[in-house]
Amino acid sequence: MESMATKFRQPLIVGNWKMHRTPSEARVLLNNLKEKLLEVIGTAVVVCPPYTVLSVAADILEKTSIQVGAQNMCWEREGAFTGEISPHMLRDLYVTHVILGHSERRVHFHETLEQIRRKVLAALAGGLIPVLCVGETAEERESNQQNVAIDGQLLSALEGIDGETIGDVVIAYEPVWAIGTGKTATPTIAQEMHDHIRRFIRRRFGEEAAQTIHILYGGSMKAANAGELLSQPDIDGGLIGGASLDAAEFAAIVACAVRP
Ligand code: PGA
Repeated sequence: MESMATKFRQPLIVGNWKMHRTPSEARVLLNNLKEKLLEVIGTAVVVCPPYTVLSVAADILEKTSIQVGAQNMCWEREGAFTGEISPHMLRDLYVTHVILGHSERRVHFHETLEQIRRKVLAALAGGLIPVLCVGETAEERESNQQNVAIDGQLLSALEGIDGETIGDVVIAYEPVWAIGTGKTATPTIAQEMHDHIRRFIRRRFGEEAAQTIHILYGGSMKAANAGELLSQPDIDGGLIGGASLDAAEFAAIVACAVRP
């Protein structure tokens, strides 16, 4: 049943540029991407550059199917929040997606579960698709606590979301030990965790939500390992960090996601 339904989930590949590329450097990468991904059909592609590149990205990608995402946002619409950017501001720049709860934000900027929960709700209310990142640390995996860790993050981040709105959420499974380390979860481990996440969604939101929600894998995904990861029944796409900064490599990953 699961594999039947998998065929109907269009793959989604999201590039997370992190804190890389000035607007002028980004023009080169975006134009290369545009050229290489012009022919892509059957896979949705989103690039998430730094805030300072969003309007350049929206301009260059305007007439393509490549969408633009942000890497973070505030939960408020406007106000005295020095240094923050709101969902409303992102929408005005043609941003469609926003990465939320990335482990780098949880660790380096001490983002709390409560803040992430508020951001997910604010993104949905503001018309953005949240790409909610969850993942266990190396210590949690070593002590066999990976499922508990993931459940805790999902329970908190999805509190207040109902069976209707869950369809607008994308989940990214990103084992913290695999991010930027060159260590990738094996396809078996990744599939196990994606299956676990889908079961969580099924228990909480029902069968339809479980079958339609996109669960992406992130953590050192590159062209060389993307094919095997993306062919797993519960892996619906990828959240790509380092490899998204190279147009040829990113395009090769997108090509792996295209289903015949
Ligand atoms: P990576 O990053 O592909 O460089 O490991 C993934 C991510 O942090 O989203």
